[in-house]
Amino acid sequence: MKINGSAALVTGANRGLGKAYARELVKRGAARVYGAARDPAAVTEPGVTPIALDVTDPERAAQVAAQCADVTLLVNNAGVMAASTFIGAPNLDAARLEMETNYFGTLRMCRAFAPVLAANGGGAIVNVLSVTSFYTNPFNASYGASKAAAWSLTNGVRLELHHQGTLVVAVHAGFIDTDMAALVDAPKISPESVAQQVFDAVEADRIEVLADERSRFIKASLSHDHELIYPPVQEFWDAAVKGTG
Ligand SMILES: NC(=O)c1ccc[n+]([C@@H]2O[C@H](COP(=O)([O-])OP(=O)(O)OC[C@H]3O[C@@H](n4cnc5c(N)ncnc54)[C@H](OP(=O)(O)O)[C@@H]3O)[C@@H](O)[C@H]2O)c1
Repeated sequence: MKINGSAALVTGANRGLGKAYARELVKRGAARVYGAARDPAAVTEPGVTPIALDVTDPERAAQVAAQCADVTLLVNNAGVMAASTFIGAPNLDAARLEMETNYFGTLRMCRAFAPVLAANGGGAIVNVLSVTSFYTNPFNASYGASKAAAWSLTNGVRLELHHQGTLVVAVHAGFIDTDMAALVDAPKISPESVAQQVFDAVEADRIEVLADERSRFIKASLSHDHELIYPPVQEFWDAAVKGTG
């Protein structure tokens, strides 16, 4: 689909990757860019229309779909990462928050906007996933589970919306240089680069973006995950547990 002249809605548009998406959409000539955020006053990008939205709020998601009935491109970007292990976490609160935001929030938005996209000729949905959709890292274990679930839903939504001509794009990346990865001391891709790759994919009708070397390596290694992916992750985790990492 063409970005030029489209009407797009980006969730979590107030900072990080969502802000870069909104800016890139304006740059590419989108006729309308809705910047959805829990605090709409924090959406200050020129050319972006602020919209109040918490993706965990079902009533508000339905209201936004009714209010933004011209949308042809939905970018499900809002996400949370609690850096929580499966076994060591004190309780299930982090795992539930991540699942409620990253999985149910994305599913809720896909369901709310599917009829809007159908009415507007098909359009596209972009779901921002992660390299951790493909494998588990104990450092953000329950986040990975929520992104694996969101990967599954992305593949399913693509099948279910094929009949109405909706392009459904999965975006996977390792570390992106935003608040979410602020404490990570490792190579990071810029949010601007991710935004450019994603909208290039949308314009070329491509269904998957592997935005960096890490996500390309991990996806290519899946059939040998226990030989290629997990041994170094285990080694790193064991060293961290012993306090030598
Ligand atoms: N950074 C990375 O290394 C990385 C790598 C791969 C994938 N991702 C994914 O990229 C996406 C964007 O993350 P980011 O890196 O830009 O992180 P970020 O800087 O922490 O931004 C997260 C955004 O999501 C919003 N958000 C969180 N919960 C929300 C909710 N319930 N309703 C509405 N908005 C909500 C935040 O809003 P508030 O300001 O209100 O908190 C913020 O705008 C996420 O889906 C993340 O999982 C990030």
